[in-house]
Order: sequence, then structure tokens, then C-alpha cells
Amino acid sequence: MSLKVSVYDTKPYDREHLLASENADKIEWRFLEFRLTDETAQSATGSDVVCVFVNDKIDRACMTSLKNQGVRLIALRCAGFNNVDLQAAKELSISVVRVPAYSPNAVAEHTVGLLLAVNRKLHRAYNRVREQNFSLRGLVGFDLAHKTVGIIGTGRIGKVTAKIFRGFDCNVIAFDEYPSPEWASSNGIEYVSMESLLKQSDIISLHTPLNKATHHLLNDTTLALTKPGVTIVNTSRGKLIDTSSLIRFLKSGHVGGVALDVYEEEEGIFFEDLSGEILQDDELALLLTFPNVLLTAHQAFLTEEALSEIARVTTTNIIRLASQEPFLEDTTL
Ligand code: NAI
Repeated sequence: MSLKVSVYDTKPYDREHLLASENADKIEWRFLEFRLTDETAQSATGSDVVCVFVNDKIDRACMTSLKNQGVRLIALRCAGFNNVDLQAAKELSISVVRVPAYSPNAVAEHTVGLLLAVNRKLHRAYNRVREQNFSLRGLVGFDLAHKTVGIIGTGRIGKVTAKIFRGFDCNVIAFDEYPSPEWASSNGIEYVSMESLLKQSDIISLHTPLNKATHHLLNDTTLALTKPGVTIVNTSRGKLIDTSSLIRFLKSGHVGGVALDVYEEEEGIFFEDLSGEILQDDELALLLTFPNVLLTAHQAFLTEEALSEIARVTTTNIIRLASQEPFLEDTTL
């Protein structure tokens, strides 16, 4: 008998890649466009598995509701899992799997792409040229070569990002709770303290997961230590940055540029077409007015390769639940 899987927050590309993956025909899919939360959990009735993404919210109340409906597995089609109450899952004996490394390159390349765009003001140049405004006024950037890039978090994505920056001839320094000294020395990268990284870096790029220790990692205190004119890139999780502090430091001119693929309050906003609606988030609205802030809506993962890998790992784990085989290595939380 095939397993029933409810896929939440489904977008056309999720559906396309999940259905194209090997063994997809052995699964009974139900694609839902809304997010899974405590309020919508009732919709999982009859499902063995729920497949969720970054902005679904599986807290204890939601998890209890899923358990009552017979859900046995939560399959995250992403790497981050800050939106899932793992303790509740353990207590309720619901398995949780994720896709730990679908394509670090996808996220790292987007990180560097955003940095290049905000530095060389490509977002502004693109709009100007379309208006036949060929003036270069205000578009001065800086060479990346010989600048100091601080990578906070040298896991899968941080490591690829650091190597790309080395390719630009940048001086790359890093901070991680669990450093990888061999990797660093073989790539010409130096681990320093967090304080030293904040003080030395011309560019700071965040690559840690969101947890209690990293929540608001960049705040009034830490931003005050950064170099005047620093450029900040965040493609990890929005809550790593205290948005109100960031706005203060942007307004004072201390922070020279910001490139974000994630935003503290992105839930319910990112991934949706809200054009024509009144944006209710004042801080986001303000950020969008700054010429030196560039935002994308959590799309760093969005490559063909990453989507195919997410679908492969997710489908394989669902099939393994049915055949009572162990889940793929490193995917169980
Ligand atoms: P990873 O688990 O491979 O690496 C995370 C690194 O952060 C580890 O080396 C860990 O030791 C370090 N770390 C943890 N706590 C720390 C702390 N308090 N201070 C300093 N370092 C700390 O994770 P991965 O796969 O590299 O992902 C990094 C981030 O990227 C995650 O937040 C993930 O959610 C996000 N992400 C964003 C995507 C997007 O589309 N924008 C897509 C995929 C991941």
C-alpha cells in the first residue's frame, strides 16, 4: 500500500521535482499551497507523512495534532530545522528527516552573487538602463580583491562561500564554534575570535544555523564593533540579525551595504506574490527603500540541482518509511 504524503507550502517547482523523482509513483501525493501550522494541522488527516518547508511551523501543538491524525514522519525539504519542535517530536515518537546538504554551492553562489550585486549596484544600474538613464553617478563600488571577508559559520555552505571569496583574492577570516583547522590551513583561511572578525571584516557573511546562541547574532552591540562601511550578507536565517539594529546602523551610515536572502519576519511574506497589496511590515518596507540594501526572497537554494536533490532525498526517505528501512544517512534529526 502506498504512503499518503501531504506536501505543504507547495510551489510549482516543488511539485514538478517531487513528481519527477525516482519512486514518486509509489507515493500518494497531496499538494497543498498553504503552510502547515497549528491552525492548519487538521488538513493532514489521513496522511502518513507531512512534507514541509522553511516557513511551516511545527510547534508542539501542531505536532500533537499531527500525531492524533496518525502522521509518522515529518520530511523537511530543507536543511534548517529551527521551525520544528524536535523535543515534542521525540516525545510523540514522530520521526523527523531533513535534507542536510542538497547543494551548498547553490546557496554559496547566491551569497556571492548578492554581494557582487549590492557592491557594484547592479540592482540600481539595471533599473536605470531600462529607463535609458546611462549615468554612472552613485554607482561606485569597491574591488573585492584584497578585502577582508569574515565568514561566520564554516559548515557546508560557509566553506564553499569562503573558497569562492578566496578565488576573488580576498583575505578570508572565519569564526565557528567548531572550527575545521585543516580545511582552513589548506585553503589559506584563518580562524579568529568573533570580536576580531567583526572588527577586521570589510564584508561579513553569515552561515550559522538559527539557534539560541545565534539568535540576533548581529545586534546593537556586535554591529558597533564592525568596521565603518561594512557590507553584511545573510543567506542563512533572518533571525540571525536584529532588524531594528540593522536599520539604525544603516541610517547612521555605519553599515555600507546589506544583501539579504532571508528576513527576520519573512514568514507569510516571502514566497508569496503580494504585489498590489499593502505591505504591513514597516521594517521590511523601510529596508526596501534603502538604495544600499538588496533583498531576495529566500531563493538561494533555488537551482535545478538543489531541487532535484531535495526531491530525491525526500522521496527516498518516504519510501524507506514504507519499507521500514533506515532513513538515508545524516538525514534523521
Ligand atoms: P552546517 O550545519 O553545515 O554549518 C553550520 C556551521 O555553523 C557549523 O560549522 C557550526 O559549527 C556553526 N555554528 C553553529 N552555531 C554556531 C555559533 N553559535 N557560532 C559560530 N558558529 C556556529 O549548515 P549549512 O548547511 O552550511 O547551512 C548554514 C545556514 O544556511 C543554515 O542556517 C541554513 O538554514 C541556511 N540555509 C539557507 C538556504 C537559503 O535558501 N537561503 C538554503 C540552505 C540553508
